[in-house]
Amino acid sequence: MTSTMSNSLIDAIVTRREDQTDEIAVFELAAADGSPLPAFEAGAHIDVIVGPELIRQYSLCNAPGSAGYRLGILNDPGSRGGSRQIHASLEEGSRVQIGAPRNHFPLDMDATHSLLIGGGIGITPMIAMAYALKAAGKSFELHYCSRSESKAAFLVELERAFGERLTLHFDDAGEAARLDPPQLCRAAPPGTHLYVCGPGGFMDWVIEQARGAGLPDRQIHFEYFSAEVDVSGEAFEVYAQISDVTVQVGPNQSISMALKAAGVKVQMSCEEGVCGTCICDVLEGIPEHRDRFLTDDEKADNDQIALCCSRAKSARLVVDI
Ligand code: FES
Repeated sequence: MTSTMSNSLIDAIVTRREDQTDEIAVFELAAADGSPLPAFEAGAHIDVIVGPELIRQYSLCNAPGSAGYRLGILNDPGSRGGSRQIHASLEEGSRVQIGAPRNHFPLDMDATHSLLIGGGIGITPMIAMAYALKAAGKSFELHYCSRSESKAAFLVELERAFGERLTLHFDDAGEAARLDPPQLCRAAPPGTHLYVCGPGGFMDWVIEQARGAGLPDRQIHFEYFSAEVDVSGEAFEVYAQISDVTVQVGPNQSISMALKAAGVKVQMSCEEGVCGTCICDVLEGIPEHRDRFLTDDEKADNDQIALCCSRAKSARLVVDI
């Protein structure tokens, strides 16, 4: 998938900002010209144009069908600057450009039951999902894992909206409060789908535990917010067919960096293999996938590659750019 974001930027205005914890601010957005914003589905995210070279994705965390967009943004000291800058600069009345919603994390509305698991700020897409499932009269449970109550946003709202369907798991609340994915999977009816979002290590753990408990892969859904990708490896050659440019990709260089240095522009957003913006067709050669965007089946096809982070198993790749 290549980005069409530049064709669909929306001028938005911050209609409300609420700092719910020391680290999490909740922003409500509307179109600056007062027109309705494009509709969105649960699980969708938008690009926020933080700066000329700084685009970040955030999940929409309000009920699908509501008028505006709502984002919950963690001021993450470990981030590369996007969330910090948003926290520092966006206030009520601020203008910001955003992309139209995109959804790589859709709900399966045919599931008999849905287990929604959010870790930390990964609760945000789960909130939209819980609202959608509730509105459709579907069976679901929402699990919110956080280091402590004081670090958790949205609590009052979630308790009011979802009551007994909400379970809170605070790290400092002792063993009994811990999330137990195998137990949840075993207690759930056949045909249950599980959705998880949060820090990478947390997601890996939940996915592994759910698989271990026998939940089929097709019933496990996840979306990584960010990932620590190692882009280093052996050098190889890339031929960009449309541009008719050949580059050598060095051991500590990404394909996108090598192409950029040779004047071939690659549309990118997250630059860490989670958003899919830089995905490009592979015409020859075998990629070594490092991204967390393509599914295992898509990776096995070897006909697409994330240019921001993936490398090559073959000495040469031909890509369609
Ligand atoms: Fe996001 Fe490559 S830019 S996956």
